[in-house]
Amino acid sequence: MKNLVFLGPPGAGKGTQASRISESLSLPHISTGDILRASIRNQTEIGLKAKAYMDAGNLVPDEIVIGIVKERIAQSDCANGYILDGFPRTLAQAEALDTITTITMAVNIDVDGEKLVKRLSGRRVCPACGETTHVSNYDKPECPKCGVTLIQRVDDNEDTIRNRLAVYNKSTQPLIDYYSGKGILKEIDGFQDIDKVTSDIVDAING
Ligand code: AP5
Ligand code: MG
Ligand code: ZN
Repeated sequence: MKNLVFLGPPGAGKGTQASRISESLSLPHISTGDILRASIRNQTEIGLKAKAYMDAGNLVPDEIVIGIVKERIAQSDCANGYILDGFPRTLAQAEALDTITTITMAVNIDVDGEKLVKRLSGRRVCPACGETTHVSNYDKPECPKCGVTLIQRVDDNEDTIRNRLAVYNKSTQPLIDYYSGKGILKEIDGFQDIDKVTSDIVDAING
């Protein structure tokens, strides 16, 4: 059973790595941020509630995201495990998660603050397939996988990025101690090239 949590500040590479490792280990990639953005696009009740929090870079209330994850990990494709990307983000979320499942490993992708501002202000995403890239990686603003024009997330502007980092430091960083106290934390240096970060995480999971 591989019930994995990917921790790390905004821009650490949680989504980039979860998507690669999801493919190589055949585990579903569950990103609460992606699920919430899809809810906003589809104008669901959850999306309407979440939008203002997300646009400002603040956390969506615990009960909403806990409900999303509870429902998602109960689905049959999660029977052998899953990768949670961006959940939990508060102590209350971590404690709620422990009442519904057993987390086997928390992977903390560590990168320092100023580098994250640079990564996030240059991030571009594909509105069709979800592929994530960076302006430094392409000549034309087209998805390398499906050719659709890339867009920028509304929360990827400098002021909102700085707020997201502050929210992370206050509410989410304490989870490092929470999982370390349980003896299931793996620390990964997220300031290496993308392939090396992937291989370090795969080694941690298999080791
Ligand atoms: P979410 O979508 O989870 O955003 P986040 O935590 O801010 O994290 P990011 O997605 O910005 O970063 P990432 O670590 O995935 O980095 P990425 O791989 O894209 O959440 C958004 C919002 O939703 C929150 O603000 C909140 O409102 C709400 N929300 C979500 N979950 C919630 C929860 N549990 N509770 C309450 N609210 C919640 O990489 C970033 C960039 O860097 C890319 O351009 C990439 O190409 C590049 N890059 C990646 N790795 C490397 C590398 N090794 N070297 C160089 N560049 C790299
Ligand atoms: Mg992400
Ligand atoms: Zn695409």
